[in-house]
Amino acid sequence: MLFAGGGYRLWAEEAIRRVSTRVNIDGEVFGPSDARISVFDRGFLYGDSVYEVLRTYGGVPFAKQAHLARLQRSADRLGIPVPGISWIQAQMDRTLAEASNPESYIRIVITRGSGPLTLDPTRARSPVCVILVKPYEPFPEWMYETGIRVAIPAVRRNLRAALDPAIKSGNYLNSILALGEARRAGFDDALLLDVRGRIAEASSSNVFVLIGSRLCTPALETGLLEGVTRGLTLRIARDAGMECCECNLDTADLINADEVMITSTLREIMPVVQIDDQPIGHGKPGPVYHKLRSLFREHALAATRAEARLGGKGDES
Ligand code: PDD
Repeated sequence: MLFAGGGYRLWAEEAIRRVSTRVNIDGEVFGPSDARISVFDRGFLYGDSVYEVLRTYGGVPFAKQAHLARLQRSADRLGIPVPGISWIQAQMDRTLAEASNPESYIRIVITRGSGPLTLDPTRARSPVCVILVKPYEPFPEWMYETGIRVAIPAVRRNLRAALDPAIKSGNYLNSILALGEARRAGFDDALLLDVRGRIAEASSSNVFVLIGSRLCTPALETGLLEGVTRGLTLRIARDAGMECCECNLDTADLINADEVMITSTLREIMPVVQIDDQPIGHGKPGPVYHKLRSLFREHALAATRAEARLGGKGDES
């Protein structure tokens, strides 16, 4: 037996003690109940902010460069000044170290900051950077084993010309409306169409459709978030010799698909087995899903191990 006597209990208590949430606000680290920002903050008042979500593998943030680059792109689109990327990186590392969880969820939020109560963005004072680190909680295993059921809600994806979904802003009302509709109808997630009826993405993931031997995902011009996991899934599938395409897909493509899956940082690759009342393929996770998920995991683990060897100086994605 590995843990004789009270050894296991002590080890478990120590593990629980070490699991923690830490919040870095503009370079100062707080416990969760001491972390506060102003009610005049425009992120709170108007969703006038951008954010990123990362997770760790083996304690090392995965695809850091890709997430930080998207954070910068989102902020540039909204004209929110970003503190230096290397400063954010250093603060993230420090907050992770203080939280010292075996695996962490990391959320980086940059708001335009506080100012007088007016929409006018030029009146904001200085941006606020929040880095929230908490223990990573995996999705329930049944979702990967039996697959999830998604609904296509009445609400459509934002138009690119209105609020471009490529901007990862703090305004997620479009996704919240869609997810609420799907959850109230008893589904696990929502798959949004654009105003022309093309498949765009799920409420917080991208979507992949296997048609015969072709792995298809909606083209960026449909209006969707360019997911880091989406990009890596395309790369991994192409490297494995699969034919991939970024194209226009409609609901008939979905219903007739052999497999459907969604991708995101937190979900990795997750199978979808039903859309509204229609089963997909044989109604259970298919072989391409199983293959891509295991290739993705291998890639994430190898990349973060290499990153750890380089002391955080590599581009692991
Ligand atoms: N969501 N589409 C939307 C609308 C998203 O919010 C996300 C990510 C994705 C997938 O992006 P990525 O592969 O880079 O995680 C697609 C994150 C996980 C979140 O907001 O929690």
